[in-house]
Amino acid sequence: MRLSPGCHALNTVASTVLRHNFRKVFMALYQKDTTVKRFPVVDRGPSHYEEIAGRALENSINHLNPYFANKLCGSEGAVEFRDGGVYTYDTHGKRYLDCLGGYGIFNVGHRHPKVIAAVKAQLDQVCLHSQDLLNPWAAHLASQLAAIAPGDIQYAFFCNSGTEAVEGALKLARLYTGKTEIISTRNAYHGVSMGALSATGRDCFRKPFEPLLNGFTHVPFGDIKALEKAINKNTAAVILEPIQGEGGINVPSEGYLRKVRQLTKKKGVLLILDEVQTGMGRTGRMFACDHEGVVPDIICLAKALGGGVMPIGAFMASAKVWKVLEPNPSIHNSTFGGNPLACTAASATIEVLMEEHLPARAAVMGNHFMRRLQELKAKYPKHIMEARGRGLLIGLEFTSQALRCEVQTELFHRGVLVAATMNSNRTIRIEPPLIITESQINFMIDTLESILSEITDVPQDEPEVTVKPVKKLVKKLVKKTVKKAVGKPAKKAAKKPVKGKASVKKTASKKSSSKSKAKTKVSAKAKSAPKAKAKKAKKAK
Ligand SMILES: Cc1ncc(COP(=O)(O)O)c(C=O)c1O
Repeated sequence: MRLSPGCHALNTVASTVLRHNFRKVFMALYQKDTTVKRFPVVDRGPSHYEEIAGRALENSINHLNPYFANKLCGSEGAVEFRDGGVYTYDTHGKRYLDCLGGYGIFNVGHRHPKVIAAVKAQLDQVCLHSQDLLNPWAAHLASQLAAIAPGDIQYAFFCNSGTEAVEGALKLARLYTGKTEIISTRNAYHGVSMGALSATGRDCFRKPFEPLLNGFTHVPFGDIKALEKAINKNTAAVILEPIQGEGGINVPSEGYLRKVRQLTKKKGVLLILDEVQTGMGRTGRMFACDHEGVVPDIICLAKALGGGVMPIGAFMASAKVWKVLEPNPSIHNSTFGGNPLACTAASATIEVLMEEHLPARAAVMGNHFMRRLQELKAKYPKHIMEARGRGLLIGLEFTSQALRCEVQTELFHRGVLVAATMNSNRTIRIEPPLIITESQINFMIDTLESILSEITDVPQDEPEVTVKPVKKLVKKLVKKTVKKAVGKPAKKAAKKPVKGKASVKKTASKKSSSKSKAKTKVSAKAKSAPKAKAKKAKKAK
């Protein structure tokens, strides 16, 4: 390419400046790197707590996401500092009863001594594995999981999160069946990578990233007929949460899971159960599918598997399904998956769950929690819509999102942690460590009650103004009126609501003149339809 003389001159100046400044620029960058110091968030006494809190907020806003400025309201910029058992503490030493459980990771409690001891010992032996020699920690954990997993589930693949567990399960289902389509449920939450997100059933997570993977359908959760209808010859698998967690703690009716199992077997389709949130004792049995004696083809685990100490996920299946991974075991792999630290934490966690009978404890404490919540619901019907759940996976749905926010914030101020579910804004999730005691549950309920008793003016949500439903109403109205007036299916006339007015006229005028009155009527109605639909919509709200 030939440059003009002007360009040449500029080029020469630029390169000279660059050459001269290169050392300076390089040194500046280098210096910037070397001046970055580690800020130890350790206990150096109360005089440092303010500094820790200030730095946490500043760095969060500047280097994680400016959204963190919002944390100033609600949780008022409280900064996590230590934890243990069922409690979390901030830098001011304020104690919070953890009824959120880190979204379901603290089943054995915060920093269970047995899990901590196992990981500490592991740190002194091998942290991350060589990838070459046999990994005894992963193999041991897989054998432990096989012993507690439902039915003939025998093999495990270890990864680092729930999303990865789901991703692997979807791939395994495709590989095993040679088919590509997956049926999931509306409002389901399976994670955020492209495959798991394709299975996730909520638009606000999905839409910004579309197009997602082809071949994913979502049917209403709990609707066996819709599921049956959706299965076709290309269906590889059905993926389900036994209880929808992020969907708002939705418990399907008794027998649903069993029917899904029968149906999938009959149709030759795999059943993937996503027990990332419901597993490890949370619902009162080791796995939620144990309540109905259902054995899935593939099961996904994560969250509480790492004992609230290490991140770890897994997908598991029977020997029959696993066969397709035999020819090339690294066809699906993960560098950190199955690392000794995480596996040791998970092994200790399983031991704790069994030794302390935590699944059974979750059932007993869950019943107590639910009984007290039902009492509150009866006392505060204007506040509480529903309390639902199983074991210590409980959803408390308020009558409005605004009220949920207010109650959640106030609970925080009074030392109780809860949070909304991802797909249902009116619902708070209650999923404390399974070691929670009856008196701690009573403290939570009493605090909640005192808050509810103070909210006499129950906040309502702003009605959502949407245009689409209104358009739909017009369309419906035009269709109905045309049918009445012309006595003909109004398919064509109602195809496009706005143009519909013209086509309505046309169709009607083609009929006998006696219909001309009807024609005028139709047009008038079509014109007044927007008002009617607005009125109707208002009424519906
Ligand atoms: C049922 C279910 N599956 C998958 C996931 C994704 O797990 P992770 O956040 O560890 O990727 C979640 C997370 O909430 C979940 O509840």
